[in-house]
Amino acid sequence: MSKEISQAVISRLPRYFRYLGELRDRGVERISSQELSEIMKVTASQIRQDFNNFGGFGQQGYGYNVEYLYDEISKILGIDKKHQLIIIGTGNLGMALARYTNFSTRGFVFKGAFDSNPELYGRKIGEVTIRPVEEIEEFVKNNNIDIAVLTIPKDQATLMAERLAKCGIKAIWNFAHVDLEVPENVQVENVHLSDSLMKLSYNINRYEHMHNKK
Ligand code: NAI
Repeated sequence: MSKEISQAVISRLPRYFRYLGELRDRGVERISSQELSEIMKVTASQIRQDFNNFGGFGQQGYGYNVEYLYDEISKILGIDKKHQLIIIGTGNLGMALARYTNFSTRGFVFKGAFDSNPELYGRKIGEVTIRPVEEIEEFVKNNNIDIAVLTIPKDQATLMAERLAKCGIKAIWNFAHVDLEVPENVQVENVHLSDSLMKLSYNINRYEHMHNKK
């Protein structure tokens, strides 16, 4: 990529992608930034600014071609290619993610599951068999795995991330509440569901504060 795009812009792209997918599925061929702005409840100028980071995508007086925009955003997000992923830690959270089959519609293919609890070895999640963690390295190499989902206890995550970096994993989707130290060729995305919940709590407070002031 020639120019560094801000993470704030990147974090808005999946939402554009979702809305454009829905418009495309409804057979909509073109849309103006004004119309897109009304549907998505963001300003038209925000949309234009965001898209200008990638050369604009639009034609004056024409609006955006939905199919084209959808394809371009999917290329920017790298989801025009398939990603093979493994889940490490098949407890409550790992199991819930493994059972959520919709990731595959975005090109994320669930190939393997690993745990350190021998009682879980051999159990099936759909087509995938839970394996011992000792087999991770070989599995990653033989199956072209690029993403590892980390749903293990926090005190286990640092060591596991080091192991994964050594065996050539490209990215870690980290749910353990710990900041991982990995080489720069390994991308990490931390997910904290409680952040979202705290934001919700803030908005409850803000609403009540504004309401009581009136
Ligand atoms: P859990 O106890 O149900 O599952 C953890 C699993 O990891 C167990 O099956 C255990 O045998 C396995 N495990 C432990 N050490 C391992 C290792 N070294 N290698 C492979 N497997 C190992 O726990 P739960 O509720 O599924 O949570 C998992 C992790 O996700 C915890 O760190 C928790 O704090 C975190 N979490 C994060 C959330 C978030 O929003 N980021 C939300 C919920 C949980």
